Amino acid sequence: MKVLVIGGGGREHALAWKLTQSPRVQEVLVAPGNAGTARESGCRNVAIGADDIEGLLRLAREERVDFTVVGPEAPLVQGVVDAFQAAGLACFGPNRSAAQLEASKAYTKAFLERHQIPTGRYATFTEADAACEWIRAHGAPIVVKADGLAAGKGVVVALDEATALNAVHDMLALGDEHAKVVVEEFLEGEEASYIVVADGEDFIAFPASQDHKRVGDGDAGPNTGGMGAYSPAPVVTPEVARRVEETIIRPTLRGLAADGVHFTGFLYAGLMIGPDGEARVLEFNVRMGDPETQPLLMRLSSDLLTLLEAAVEHRLDEVQPTWDTRAALGVVLAAQGYPASTRKGDVIHGLDLPFGSNVKVFHAGTTLDGDGAVRTYGGRVLCVCALGDSTASAQTAAYAAIRQIRWEGMHFRSDIGWRAIS
Ligand code: AMP
Ligand code: GLY
Repeated sequence: MKVLVIGGGGREHALAWKLTQSPRVQEVLVAPGNAGTARESGCRNVAIGADDIEGLLRLAREERVDFTVVGPEAPLVQGVVDAFQAAGLACFGPNRSAAQLEASKAYTKAFLERHQIPTGRYATFTEADAACEWIRAHGAPIVVKADGLAAGKGVVVALDEATALNAVHDMLALGDEHAKVVVEEFLEGEEASYIVVADGEDFIAFPASQDHKRVGDGDAGPNTGGMGAYSPAPVVTPEVARRVEETIIRPTLRGLAADGVHFTGFLYAGLMIGPDGEARVLEFNVRMGDPETQPLLMRLSSDLLTLLEAAVEHRLDEVQPTWDTRAALGVVLAAQGYPASTRKGDVIHGLDLPFGSNVKVFHAGTTLDGDGAVRTYGGRVLCVCALGDSTASAQTAAYAAIRQIRWEGMHFRSDIGWRAIS
């Protein structure tokens, strides 16, 4: 079979790498891919952007692609799955109406409330004055979120009222006349990512994972797309997982179905697990997490294609994925300046040195020169992943591998996994 992976980040490198391991896959095309997928045996990059839906359709037809997996949210929100389905092409991911769950925080909060799914109290505003009044009434800490896709940067967790009021003004001033803000109760606890492969009301859960959103050690500094992740996440005990499925995942899929939305694809619930073990929804994503995908797919020991195909063919009940019992941990190596501005074009050294069999270096923002040099091409550049008998040993192995890699301005967190290890 020929498989197409849409996207060019770390998540897509991991998806493509895992798909090449399927005995039924001859070749994995990646559009547009990165230097990691260019160098991956069994993969071929095609220079078509992830949001060029016409170009992707043409590619799938010309190359006789048998199955397509969509990585990022933008093409999903644009309706890439609807377009592929209309052309009779098998494509894994939610359609445009199902992708609303990530595209609009206002829609999602209203959905959660309507279906009584646990989440923080909130209100949605188009007028700054009304939003500020709500903030003054509730007090800080409080959270202000811009409606719409913002790549993880549209959220301000305000510890004082002035910061919250400024955030409202900034977000409404930046947006067009339809701009909306969601103001939300600050939730205490520990975050976790709970990702399932869904098809309508059926689903199969991945093991829980945890991301590190802040740029600096000890969870300090500005939010990023994610600086590292690991799985399993001890905060999600078997009892917490059971509750997440019963109070969040199942009611969400049932609620979507009741609203006439059939959700096939990865459903990612970003959760806050309170001190009482109660889980509340912070956000939904309609795709795998980045960087959660990288450690999660290192732990998947069964075939990924079989799982995704079963979802598209509405027979998830027939598959049972198996997981490596070891822990996996990935550390993101970022380019100079990330997450503010990022410098591109620095040559990355050390990628050809041998890494242990328990280590895998996934690329994100990289390009391959004609002369074979790999250069930085984005904020998050690499995600160095390792498996270990414990989170601590996976962490040790990942940081040992990182010592081989360098470029000018490279930076990373030195404490990925700290909650699980401490
Ligand atoms: P989101 O894009 O909604 O996941 O928000 C980005 C980050 O902001 C989350 O990963 C949390 O760290 C934080 N956050 C969002 N909503 C809340 C909330 N209600 N309470 C506390 N922290 C939040
Ligand atoms: N790692 C967070 C996300 O993918 O949204």
